[in-house]
Amino acid sequence: MATINANFNKLASGYLFPEIARRTAQWQKRNPGIPVMRLGIGNTTEPLPPAVRRAMKEKIDKLGDRTTYTGYGDEQGDTYLREAMVKYYQRWGIALEPTEFFISDGAKSDAANIQQIFGPDNIVAIQDPAYPVYVDSNVVGGRSGAYNSERGQYDGFVYLSTSEEGGFIPTPPEEKVDLIYLCNPNNPTGAVANHAQVKAFVDYAIANKAVIIYDSAYSEYITEEGFPRSIYEVEGAKRCAIEISSFSKFSGFTGVRLGWTIVPHELECEDGAAGVLNGLWNRRQCTFFNGASNVSQSGAYAALFGKGYEESRALVEYYLGNAKIIRDGLTSLGLTVYGGTNSPYIWAKTPNNMDSWAFFDLLLERCHVVVTPGGGFGPAGKHYVRFSSYGHREDVEQAMKSVKENAGI
Ligand code: MLT
Repeated sequence: MATINANFNKLASGYLFPEIARRTAQWQKRNPGIPVMRLGIGNTTEPLPPAVRRAMKEKIDKLGDRTTYTGYGDEQGDTYLREAMVKYYQRWGIALEPTEFFISDGAKSDAANIQQIFGPDNIVAIQDPAYPVYVDSNVVGGRSGAYNSERGQYDGFVYLSTSEEGGFIPTPPEEKVDLIYLCNPNNPTGAVANHAQVKAFVDYAIANKAVIIYDSAYSEYITEEGFPRSIYEVEGAKRCAIEISSFSKFSGFTGVRLGWTIVPHELECEDGAAGVLNGLWNRRQCTFFNGASNVSQSGAYAALFGKGYEESRALVEYYLGNAKIIRDGLTSLGLTVYGGTNSPYIWAKTPNNMDSWAFFDLLLERCHVVVTPGGGFGPAGKHYVRFSSYGHREDVEQAMKSVKENAGI
């Protein structure tokens, strides 16, 4: 008799972004013909950089010729791309080896899958608010207790609280935990931890033989000095941290799909000496994954240097320009806002302490603008909403005009 993985029953609700899409679709059904402006999910809208497109087209032509056609590649990613990733990290003075990189179909899947190489009894620390994948994957992996609807949190997880006063940057837990999820620049708050704040976690992890899962998907949005682009800028991090990142928000690969995970050879944990975790992730990928798309890998290679890099940087600047428009617009309405400078996300406090889903409804109803309710990222977000800057400029301008004219705040 087959039974289900009952951990799925513990999940508190449907996944956040489909839920927003469902509510938006329902609203559109009730209000046919009215266009909505989407500043909800962080989904890129500008075209791929020309150099990236050229590289992908060349690869497709090679695939169309039997003398240059290739089938399965290496599960870890093609060697030329792993070597290029090594050079990309050298920009920030970080020395890594190609065998420490694992190219994948994106940061989201890696962030969800990485927990499989850790024991079910590991105590997990997650920031509140957080990107929901860290929470849900560990619930499904059996590391949580029941969902506590009063607290809006799962028993068994250690929540790293953040506050407005603390700039939404968490500090290491008082108690001993085993796995720590950090996202820097942060999704959803747009906050960026500086070198010293990240170092506090590295020191904690080394002292407690904990492992940090560091999501740096938005690192190219850091334009100011003093903030690490990678956790490996911090001394000792190779001993205690896995870094997960992506081409999605840097080169517009949300649909193309390509990301990477770094598992350093030096990384160790309680019962795994240096090298063990790298070997386990390699084993996991070889068994469950057949390598990332070869066309995507060609495009990604082109994005790392020269024209492709410049064009990708221009995309980032474009979205940061949108973020400024959103930030300035909301500020002019008297709202308190965070993020949006070294990050594509703007974290806005709801007016009059309104619940985030109620403010979501208000913005949709009155302004036809879709945002992400902060409560969907955890209870600490319930009086905030997140604005994403990943729209076309004219749509972002139109959305902010509508918020200013119609929100009634
Ligand atoms: C977000 O909106 O938080 C992200 O775009 C979702 C994702 O990257 O999976």
